[in-house]
Amino acid sequence: MRGWSLYAFLFLFSSVGFAVKSQDFKTCSQSGFCRRGRALAERAKDAGDAWKSPYSVDPSSLTVSPDRASFMAAVESSLYPSIKFSLELRVHDDGVVRVRMDEVDGLHKRYDETASWVLPKEPTISRDLLWTANNTAISLGYSRGKHDDVDVVVTYNPLTIVMSKNGKPQIMINGRGLLHMEHYRSKDTPAVEGSDNAQAVLDTAGSRAWFEGDKEEDFWEEKFKSWTDKKPKGPESLSLDIDFPESQRLYGIPQHATRLDLPTTTGEEAVYSDPYRLYNADVFEYSASSPMSLYGSIPVLYAHHYDGTVGVFNAIGSETWIDVYHPSPRSSQTHWISESGILDVFLLPGPNPEDVLAQYGRLAGTQSLPPLWSLGYHQCRWNYVSSDDIRAVQSRFDAEDIPLDVLWLDIEYAEEHKYFMWDHKTFPDPVDMVNDLSAYGRKLVAIIDPHLKRTDDFPVYKEAQEKGVLVKSKNGESDYEGWCWSGSSSWLDMFNPKSWEWWRRLFAIDPPKQPEGWHWTQSTKDIHVWNDMNEPSIFNGPEITMEKDAVHYGGWEHRDVHNINGMLFANQTFKALEARMSPPERPFVLTRSFFAGSQRFGAMWTGDNLGTWEHMAVGIKMVLANGLGGFSFAGSDVGGFFGNPEPEMLVRWYQVGAFMPFFRAHAHIDTKRREPYLLDDPYKSIIRDTIRLRYAMLPVWYTAFWKASATGMPVLRPQFVMFPGEKNGFGIDDQFYVGDSILVKPVTEEGADETQVYLGEDEHYYDYFTYTMYRGAHEGRLITVPAALDQIPVFIRGGTIVPTRERHRRSVSLTKRDPFTLRVALDHQGHANGTLYLDDGDSYDYHEGGFIWREFAAKRVKTTITLSNNDHGARKPGEAVAGVDFQTYSPGNEFAQSAANVRVEKVVVLGLTGKPVSVTLGGVELAWEYTPGYGWLERQDGGKASVLTIKDPKVPIAKYWEIVITL
Ligand code: NOJ
Repeated sequence: MRGWSLYAFLFLFSSVGFAVKSQDFKTCSQSGFCRRGRALAERAKDAGDAWKSPYSVDPSSLTVSPDRASFMAAVESSLYPSIKFSLELRVHDDGVVRVRMDEVDGLHKRYDETASWVLPKEPTISRDLLWTANNTAISLGYSRGKHDDVDVVVTYNPLTIVMSKNGKPQIMINGRGLLHMEHYRSKDTPAVEGSDNAQAVLDTAGSRAWFEGDKEEDFWEEKFKSWTDKKPKGPESLSLDIDFPESQRLYGIPQHATRLDLPTTTGEEAVYSDPYRLYNADVFEYSASSPMSLYGSIPVLYAHHYDGTVGVFNAIGSETWIDVYHPSPRSSQTHWISESGILDVFLLPGPNPEDVLAQYGRLAGTQSLPPLWSLGYHQCRWNYVSSDDIRAVQSRFDAEDIPLDVLWLDIEYAEEHKYFMWDHKTFPDPVDMVNDLSAYGRKLVAIIDPHLKRTDDFPVYKEAQEKGVLVKSKNGESDYEGWCWSGSSSWLDMFNPKSWEWWRRLFAIDPPKQPEGWHWTQSTKDIHVWNDMNEPSIFNGPEITMEKDAVHYGGWEHRDVHNINGMLFANQTFKALEARMSPPERPFVLTRSFFAGSQRFGAMWTGDNLGTWEHMAVGIKMVLANGLGGFSFAGSDVGGFFGNPEPEMLVRWYQVGAFMPFFRAHAHIDTKRREPYLLDDPYKSIIRDTIRLRYAMLPVWYTAFWKASATGMPVLRPQFVMFPGEKNGFGIDDQFYVGDSILVKPVTEEGADETQVYLGEDEHYYDYFTYTMYRGAHEGRLITVPAALDQIPVFIRGGTIVPTRERHRRSVSLTKRDPFTLRVALDHQGHANGTLYLDDGDSYDYHEGGFIWREFAAKRVKTTITLSNNDHGARKPGEAVAGVDFQTYSPGNEFAQSAANVRVEKVVVLGLTGKPVSVTLGGVELAWEYTPGYGWLERQDGGKASVLTIKDPKVPIAKYWEIVITL
C-alpha cells in the first residue's frame, strides 16, 4: 500500500510543470521491431534500383474462387524458401479490395481477428469482375459500375499489388520492396536461409539486409526502463510500404496531436523524426505537436489530390508505426511497421473524399446516432464531491439561465474506486440525486474504469474472478495484477465472450432481469457511462500500460490486441446500457481509448489536454482527424484538463467547444472550480450566449449526425472534404463546416479582435449573427473578419437553408416541441437548399422509419422565389436520399404525427435583390418586414445583406408548404 500511495502522489502532483513525460514512452529507436523496420527502409533507399523485394507469387498456385470475387496464391520469400505464405485478394461490391497475407503452418498462429472486431458484417462480394492472368501478373478490372476505370494488378515477381485508375497507379503495395512478414522462428534458425536471390539482396544491401545489425539484439527479449518483454513467441513483425504515386496529401491515422494534413516523418526536411505511432497509451499532458501515440488508434489513411482520393484501412491491432514522406510535391509514401498480426489491408478506390469515407463507413460501420440530449452541454470536473454538490451545481446553472444537459461524476463517487459502489458518506441518496436531474430532463454520467480493485468486498471483482473473465498474467496461470486508481487491481478481458452477458447484467436497473449475481443497485436509466483508462492505463506498467506478454482469451498475447482492447470495453458497456431498457433507448458512453469500430458505440474525447492556447487549437485538428477516422462524436476538455485558464481563454474555449460534436467542460482535481456561473460579466454572459447558440443550432448538429450515421460523412467537415478540387485549401485545418451549411473559424489566439477566414468557393457567405456578406473565390481567398471576445466567426454558406430552435430552455428535452426558425441564405443565383432530420431523440424507432426528413428549397424563377418544405417520403420506396434507404419511411409515421403541431415561427431570407412586392402562403399575404442591404447579384466583402423576416407564417415543420416571394 505504501508503494501505491507514493505512486498516486507522484502521478497526481508531479504534473506541475505540465509537459509530457516523453521518457515514459518509447521512440522508434527504443522499439526493436520499429528500428528493424526503419533500418530496412534505409537499406532499400541506399541500394536504390538494385533493391528487390524477395517476395514472389507462385503463379502455378493461383486459384480464382468459383464466384470470381477472390483469388488465393502461394507466396514465398527467396530469403526463406522453406517458409510459405498465402495471399488472398477479395473484392467487395463497392470496389474495395481486401488483401490478406499470412504465414502458412508457421511455428505459431499470427493474430488474424482484428478485422472481425472492426467489421460489423461481412462485406458483400463483387459480381462484376474481370480477371486476366499471364506469365507475370494477374489483373482484375470491374466490368461495369462506378469503378470501371479502376484495375488492380498483382505482379508475381517481385510481389506488388497496384490499384490504378485510368492506368495511373493510385495505391501501390510493396512498390518499394519493404514488405517483410517476419515469420515465427526458433532461436537456432538461421537468419537467412540462403539462395541466389538472398545472396543478391545481401550483396546489394551490403550487409544482412533483413536484420538491423550483426547481432539479433531485441529479438528474443526486449528491455525498456525497468521492464523486460520476454516475447514468449519470439520476434514477429510486419513491414509494409503503401505508396500513393498520384496523391499530394495524406490525412487520417488518428489519434495524434498534429496537423490534419499529416507532416512528414522521414526525408531531409522531415517535420518529425519519429514515425506516427499507434499504440494506445495514457499520455497525459501530451505535446500539442507530436507523432507520439495517444489514447486511441484508427489505422485508416486517405491520400488526396485535386483529381482524386483513395484510402487504405490497415486492420491491425498491434503496435504500429507509420512513416510519411512526399518524394515529390505530387506523391506520397507511407511505411507501416507493426509488431504482430497478419497482413489485412483494405484498398479504398474513392474516387473522392465522400466516396472513401463512405467506403470506410461501410467496412467499419458509421457513427452511431447519439441520443439528442447528449449533443447538449456537459458539465464535468474531477470531482463533484457529493450529491449535494451535484444539486448545487444544477441549481446554479438554472439560477443563471445557462442550459445544461448532463452532470458528470468522476472516480471519487465510488467507494475506494470500486466502480458501481456509491460512496455513501458523500452520495447517500444516489437515486434521488439522479431523479433531481431527471426532473429537468437531465442525465448523469458516471465513470466506470476497467481496473477492478482486488478485494473480497468488491462483488464485481469477485464475480469476474470466479467467472474467469480477467486478463491473465504472462504465463496465463494467474490473474494479471497491476496498479491503478483503485490500488492493486485486475483488468476485465472483454475478448472473452463470457464477460459480455455478465457485464450486461451489472447494469441492470431494479429489478434486474436475471436474478442471480450482483448488479448496480441504486442506478436509474438516466445514468450513462464514461469509460476512462481503457488503453488500459496501468501506473506501474511499461509505458503506463499492460505488459505485452499478458494473456487474453484464446491465448492471445496483449501485444496482438493492445489497440483493440479499449474499444471492446466501451462497446460492451454500450451494449449493456442498451439492454437495460426494453424497448432499448440510445445509450451514451464516452470512451478515452478507441479503435476502428468504436464510432458505432458512442463518443470520445481527446484526453488530458492542457489549458493552453496551443492545446485549444490542436484539439480542433484532432477532432477533425477523428471524424475522418469515422468517429465524429468527439471533443476536447473545454478549459483544458490541467491548469487554471484565465477568463478570456475560458470564453474562447467555450466558443470552440460549442462547435465540437461532443461539448463537455472538464478539469483536473487540482484546478480551481470554473463552472461558467462563477465568472464575472462579460465573460459569464458570453459563455451563456455561446451555450445557448449550441442549443439553438441543435437541429443542424442532429441532421449532420444523422448524415454521418447514414453515409460516413463526418459531422465536422474539413476544407478538403468540402472542396476536394480546390488545392489551396488542402492544408486548412483551423476552420471547418458543421454539416454542409455552417462554416466556423474558432478563435484560438490570445488578444485577438479579428481573424482570417478562408472561403474556398466562389459563393456568398453570410455572417451568422450580423448578416454581413463576404464572397469567396474558386481558387480560395482569405477574408478578414471581426473576432472580438464576444464574436465567434460563424458563417452560413450561400445556397443553404439552416433550421434552428431559438427558445431558451434549460435542457434539450424541453425543446422538443419548440418551433423552428429557417435562415435562407441565397447563393449567387438566388437559390438555396437545406435538410432537416428529426426524431424522438431517444429510441430506435428511427430504424423503422419513425423520423421526419425535410428538404427545404428556395427556387428562383426570374423575379419569383418559391420557398418550399418538401416531403421525400413521396419518393418511390427504396430510393436512397443521402445514401439512406427510405424504404421504411412513411410521412405519416407516429413520430411525425406527434410533431404535427410543431411549426416554423420565423423565416429569414438573406440576400434578396430588393424589397418584395408580396410574400404569400396559399395566395394569402403573410406578415413580414424587410431591411435593405446587398443581394445575391452583388459581390460583397463586408456589406450587410438585405434581410426579409417572415413573421410566424404558422406553417408546420413536418408538412409540405410553399411560400412565394415576388420581387
Ligand atoms: C484520466 C482522465 O483522462 C481524466 O479525464 C479523469 O478526470 C481522470 N482520469 C480521473 O478519473
